[in-house]
Amino acid sequence: MAQDIYGALRADHERVRELLDAVLESREDIDQRFAELQLEYTAHERAEERAFYEPLLRPTATREAVLEGFAEHHESDLVMRELASVPNVYEEHWHAQAETLKEMVEHHIDEEEREIFPAARQAMDEDWAVQARGRFEQAKTNLARTGRSVP
Ligand SMILES: [Fe+2]
Ligand SMILES: [Fe+2]
Repeated sequence: MAQDIYGALRADHERVRELLDAVLESREDIDQRFAELQLEYTAHERAEERAFYEPLLRPTATREAVLEGFAEHHESDLVMRELASVPNVYEEHWHAQAETLKEMVEHHIDEEEREIFPAARQAMDEDWAVQARGRFEQAKTNLARTGRSVP
C-alpha cells in the first residue's frame, strides 16, 4: 500500500467495515463493539476532515464532493450519538437504526474511494498526498491523546 493519504484512509475504511459487521453480526458485547466503532470512526472522520477534506475545499474539482462528505460525517455522527444514548442495544429498534448507520457509512466510504480519491489525485500531486498522510496520522494521535475523538 502506498505511503500516502489514500493508503491510510483505505486501511481505516477496511477497519471501519469490519467494525460495522462486528456490531451488526454479534449477539453479545454489542455495546462494547459499538463503542469501539464510534471511537474509531469519529477519530477517522475528524482526522480526515483536518488532513484531507480541508485542503480539498479549494480546488473546484473536489469542493462539491468534499462539502457533501462533511455533511455525511455530520449525519453519521448524529446517528451514532443517538445509538449511544439508547440503553438497550439488544432492542429491535436499536438494531434497525444500526443497520441504517451501516448503510450510510458504507455508502460514504465507497463514495470517497470511488469519487473523491480520483478527483483529489487530479487536483493534488503525490508530494502533497505523502505529507497529508503525516498530517492525518498526527491528527489521529492528537485526538487519541486529548481524548477528544468523540465530539
Ligand atoms: Fe469520510
Ligand atoms: Fe473516510
